[in-house]
Amino acid sequence: MKKSFIIAIDGASSTGKSTLAKALASSLNMVYVDSGAMYRGVTLYAQQQQWLTEAGLDKEKLISHLDDIHLTFTNNKLFLNGADVSSEIRSMAVSNAVSIVASISEIRAFLVAQQRIIGATQAVVMDGRDIGTVVFPDADLKLFLFADDQVRAQRRFNEIKEQDTEVTLNQIHQNIKQRDYLDSTRADSPLIQAPDAIALDATQFTAESMLNHVLELISKRFS
Ligand code: DC
Repeated sequence: MKKSFIIAIDGASSTGKSTLAKALASSLNMVYVDSGAMYRGVTLYAQQQQWLTEAGLDKEKLISHLDDIHLTFTNNKLFLNGADVSSEIRSMAVSNAVSIVASISEIRAFLVAQQRIIGATQAVVMDGRDIGTVVFPDADLKLFLFADDQVRAQRRFNEIKEQDTEVTLNQIHQNIKQRDYLDSTRADSPLIQAPDAIALDATQFTAESMLNHVLELISKRFS
């Protein structure tokens, strides 16, 4: 496998992108990068600084301080300026605000540049919304996962109900629908399927059968 081999996995939230991406990275000895975690990291930073509150976002402040935000991954955990924020970035407070932050072009440019650096020298599986369309338009393999929003809400609810006993299925469903809308209608890098991406209906697969299906695709295409 060449050094900068890239697998791009895009799709809406809770379609199983990260489960597939992690499993592929581990089967193929590649690095996994969760680009959504990076948008969540910037959102958390803005909240910590009080630039993003119920009253709104101080966009100019955040944009002028992007160089103060250092995001790194170690063992699939996200570190924000040296602190492990992997759990905090999954809170409802971050989930409800992240699409606003992700719609800002300066923030996208800041994170896309870092994503391209990560993919330049190593074999990477990256998941997100614009990986096959914007970040790596020449990716070796592009996958686009989709599934019904009710199914995705249930999936996400099952995942987090143990850690967050307050959250309801309905809140998660509303959050997913709102993010789908914001992520697919924003002007910069909306969530769309790249013309050369392979679309996979996540409801037709278990995690294991999805992995096997994609491994088969890879072995047919690259052997
Ligand atoms: O994958 P996720 O749900 O953790 O992503 C969080 C948010 O970040 C999502 O609502 C949209 C945004 N995002 C994006 O705009 N571009 C990406 N490549 C990844 C995520």
